[in-house]
Amino acid sequence: MYAFDIDPDAPKAQLYDDLHSAAMALVEGEPDGIANMANVAALIWQFLPDLNWSGFYRMVEDELVLGPFVGKPACIRIALGSGVCGTAAASGETQRVEDVHAFPGHIACDAASQSELVVPVLHDGQVTHVIDLDSPRTGRFDAEDQAGIERLARSLAGRI
Ligand code: SME
Repeated sequence: MYAFDIDPDAPKAQLYDDLHSAAMALVEGEPDGIANMANVAALIWQFLPDLNWSGFYRMVEDELVLGPFVGKPACIRIALGSGVCGTAAASGETQRVEDVHAFPGHIACDAASQSELVVPVLHDGQVTHVIDLDSPRTGRFDAEDQAGIERLARSLAGRI
């Protein structure tokens, strides 16, 4: 069992520093990408309030395929350019969506989702995965959340 101290009143920057340290401690020395994704999805879920989904999609032969996650069962395959995840994967750019109902082509895996943050993981210049966070609260993710998850994505490159 791994127990991490989480202070729910800590400033967001501190929360993301702690999340990053915990993630690095878990993946350090572990070559199995599935194990690492599973632990990081669980850590994100533990550290960040107001989420209803936290997990990974993997780029497999030019489409996104569901990876380890916490939340309700989700769509298994997403075409590049489709939905929030497919847009992030196709462009290589983070998608921070205040209101998913206003995002053309948003794929509703869980009707509770109102806002979403999708961050691509790039390795050797290629998108290999995306990290997907959903929230039941509109506008849940701000620039600090984006920066925190982007830092995590950079550190996970080649380890998942
Ligand atoms: N909403 C995503 C689909 C994945 S689920 O949120 C887990 C999208 O539009 O790509």
